[in-house]
Amino acid sequence: MKRTFRAIVVLLTVMLFVSVLAGCKTAAAPTPAPAPVAQKLKIGLSLATLQEERWVRDKDRITKDCADQGIELLTQIANMDAATQESQCENLFTQGINVLILAPQDAVAAATIVDKAHAAGVKVISYDRLVMNTANDDVYISFDNVQVGVLQGTWLTTAVPKGNYAILSGAPTDNNAKLFKQGAMSIIQPLVDKGDIKIVADQPVVEWKPENAQKIMENALTANKNNIQGILAPNDGTAGGCIQALAAQGLAGKVPITGQDAELAAAQRIVKGTQGMTVFKDTRMLGDAAVEAAKTMFAGQPLAKATQTVNNGTMDVPSILLVPIAVTKENIDATLIASGYLLKADVYK
Ligand code: BGC
Repeated sequence: MKRTFRAIVVLLTVMLFVSVLAGCKTAAAPTPAPAPVAQKLKIGLSLATLQEERWVRDKDRITKDCADQGIELLTQIANMDAATQESQCENLFTQGINVLILAPQDAVAAATIVDKAHAAGVKVISYDRLVMNTANDDVYISFDNVQVGVLQGTWLTTAVPKGNYAILSGAPTDNNAKLFKQGAMSIIQPLVDKGDIKIVADQPVVEWKPENAQKIMENALTANKNNIQGILAPNDGTAGGCIQALAAQGLAGKVPITGQDAELAAAQRIVKGTQGMTVFKDTRMLGDAAVEAAKTMFAGQPLAKATQTVNNGTMDVPSILLVPIAVTKENIDATLIASGYLLKADVYK
């Protein structure tokens, strides 16, 4: 009896031990890893303004590229307010964008946006305008903006090798404005030094506004009793303002003036003869390059096309710089119209 009892105790103990072991085995079984969530690219687009026709084109092209490729795109326009742009970008970060395409309103203030993007793990493309003074610019995609100025300066000094010049430059908050002027002055300054050209007005156009340009030109004409032979206007919008001031004095078409952006209104003025030239920067190519770069960065691959660098005051930023083209009456058909950027029927209206 006693022996039977002991046998039962031993048996139960063994059974208990085995079941504990079995239990352990179950608990130690590897839990299956969660299925990987395929992360999809989400792009944020932050533009400073839609004041110029070109920005509408940039926006439309990027929107089309993203739609064609099934990429989610969130767009914000800052209406030329740097603080608005910053809060709009913060909002894009919280909405989970992976890449920000940023055309800054204020080149220096926007460093905060880039630094915050970096902290949030968002890659930034400085789009058309470079963000200055940050160690976190990922890439700069633009045109060769010094060359834009060289094209303007070359055309103007060829049209007016001697005489009084009015020099207008773009918004002081926009780094491009400095680059355009630098390029233009590299051609104009030697003629000033020679004494052939006299600069009788030299002013930036705050916020690139045509009405500000018009006022500057009205004052310059008054101060110089209309004795001005050449005008450097940094873009088509400001050229339009200057041409209104000229028209009020019966001088439209008589004073050679530059431009930039290939706006339809400027193309029409070129064929009519009230504006001498514009600079064609194909925003379709710029938009395509930005979306392609966003995809490449999201895939964690190097940007093979960023073969140049531009210094932002803190670092050399890897850059993709497209080629700008000077457009005059002579080549407008072969450039703007042949490329489908503008329609012949609209230009020659
Ligand atoms: C752009 C020009 C534009 C200007 C005003 C510059 O940064 O490069 O194309 O006309 O801003 O928006």
